[in-house]
Amino acid sequence: MSILEFRPVRPVGSETALLDWQRIHNLIIPTDPLSVDEIAVRAQRNILEVAYAGTVPVGCSTVRPPEFDSAPGTVIARVLPEHRRHGYGEQIYERGLAAVRELGAHVVQTVILASNDDGLRFARRHGFVEIERYVLPGDTVAFVDLQLA
Ligand SMILES: CC(C)(COP(=O)(O)OP(=O)(O)OC[C@H]1O[C@@H](n2cnc3c(N)ncnc32)[C@H](O)[C@@H]1OP(=O)(O)O)[C@@H](O)C(=O)NCCC(=O)NCCS
Repeated sequence: MSILEFRPVRPVGSETALLDWQRIHNLIIPTDPLSVDEIAVRAQRNILEVAYAGTVPVGCSTVRPPEFDSAPGTVIARVLPEHRRHGYGEQIYERGLAAVRELGAHVVQTVILASNDDGLRFARRHGFVEIERYVLPGDTVAFVDLQLA
């Protein structure tokens, strides 16, 4: 297993990382594709990183800080299907969890597309429990919000 290298997307980091983050996100969450501009706006508030095994982008992450003192923070790890089951998800998740705790989160949540069986199993194995399930307007697949118990 490689030790991953993490690079932030612009404006904090690079344009290349932003394009890699977009490709990975939109492939894994095809029901909610994000434009470059939408990602750049999110990157001003959230930590958006790409995980590289050597030079190969294998996954990405989103860390959302709590919006106020007692609000939850969010960690989302994503790994491309062809790179799964090599421990990369674990590395991405642990880094995201440390970051969101550092940002002051006492409550940690994640959000997973209901069709992502790998993601739901991974989250439950890491102690998350489902708190809400909803379909966004225009979507057919539900999102599942989970919270670290
Ligand atoms: C959830 C997700 C990030 C996991 O990524 P991953 O890289 O496969 O994660 P890991 O490799 O760390 O762990 C996955 C499984 O592989 C196993 N594994 C890890 N290294 C392994 C190895 N070298 N050989 C065999 N199995 C291995 C783990 O034990 C784990 O097993 P389990 O599913 O039985 O618990 C990935 O499936 C994904 O992107 N899903 C869609 C997005 C999503 O739903 N994200 C939300 C998660 S917070």
